[in-house]
Amino acid sequence: MTSVVFTGIGLLYTADPEREEIEDAALVVDDGLVRWIGRSADAPPADERVDVEGRAVIPGFVDSHAHLVFAGDRTEEFAARMAGRPYTAGGIRSTVAATRRATIPELVSTTALLVSELVMQGATTFEIKSGYGLTVEDERRSLEIACQFTEETTFLGAHVVPPETTADDYVRLVTGPMLEACAPYAKWVDVFCERGAFGEEHSREVLAAGRKAGLRLRVHANQLGPGPGVRLACEMGAASADHCTHLTDADVDALAATGVVATLLPGAEFSTRSPYPDARRLLDAGVTVALATDCNPGSSFTTSMPFCVALAVREMGMTPLEAVRAATRGGARALRRTDVGTLCVGSRADLVILEAPSYVHLAYRPGVPLVAEVWRTGRRLV
Ligand code: NIG
Ligand code: FE
Repeated sequence: MTSVVFTGIGLLYTADPEREEIEDAALVVDDGLVRWIGRSADAPPADERVDVEGRAVIPGFVDSHAHLVFAGDRTEEFAARMAGRPYTAGGIRSTVAATRRATIPELVSTTALLVSELVMQGATTFEIKSGYGLTVEDERRSLEIACQFTEETTFLGAHVVPPETTADDYVRLVTGPMLEACAPYAKWVDVFCERGAFGEEHSREVLAAGRKAGLRLRVHANQLGPGPGVRLACEMGAASADHCTHLTDADVDALAATGVVATLLPGAEFSTRSPYPDARRLLDAGVTVALATDCNPGSSFTTSMPFCVALAVREMGMTPLEAVRAATRGGARALRRTDVGTLCVGSRADLVILEAPSYVHLAYRPGVPLVAEVWRTGRRLV
């Protein structure tokens, strides 16, 4: 494989705490990995040279929370919400009905389209959840499809209780035959721990069964109101508690003490016209924060990590530096990955060249397509 040296990087944001920003930088990639980082003037030779001409470079975004395998459309639900109707998560059932009706090729092609949108906007690592099938076979095939696109696959059979059954019976299915069918295709197990979805005991059962089957844990927690989700995520050693919109002081302390990542999903508050989570409070308490898209047809139909960064800065009290850090290294921490989300010697060569002199422009110029080039494992994708 040919080595490539990127020179003339006006500002390199590495997300490496040792040396987080380098001006007038260069970077060498070889065999899919970053091999050298330093000042442009000191750059060693390589087979190929890419002059970035003063633009900024950042690590590829790590989107640690996305629901990409689904069918159907909820435009009308969104429009009704913007006319004043509240978000209840009840619309999940309409996506479930459409997803069950869809063929595998249909689901693959929608997922592929969303994945290409994610990548075009700079995401080089992304998680994909099931959760719109809610039968053994519909969940299994959703995860089999997710595996075609990413190694970060999450079994979310416990998304809502489908209409044809009771909560007790459904949790028995999720923790029994459904888990057995899905575990071979999943790395993670997740549960929507929320009033109207799964309560504390059921959520604990789902997570415990997933762990027993060899899966690692993540939790949809405290999205629509206060509740036990964050506490449960901390108690059970989940990698991440996601949403974290309604937190008590005890929740914040538990996140800080256990190192569970708080993954904030501002696209959901934007699209449900809800109050945003208080990122400032979490950061000031020493919690590790990640930002992700939560891409799904109901509460957050965006594939844009730059949009989430802009929202986090404008609406959630984050500085541009904190937001870009959360969208790169934070997402990697939420997936317990050390090979992505940062640019240091030895990391995977996943990088984004911005049509801007600084990553600050991601918030300063919201809605502007600033992602000029995307490289993953040392190959140019965009
Ligand atoms: O993360 N919270 C649960 N699941 C999704 C919403 C899914 C939907 O409305 O379809 C979320 O926001
Ligand atoms: Fe979600």
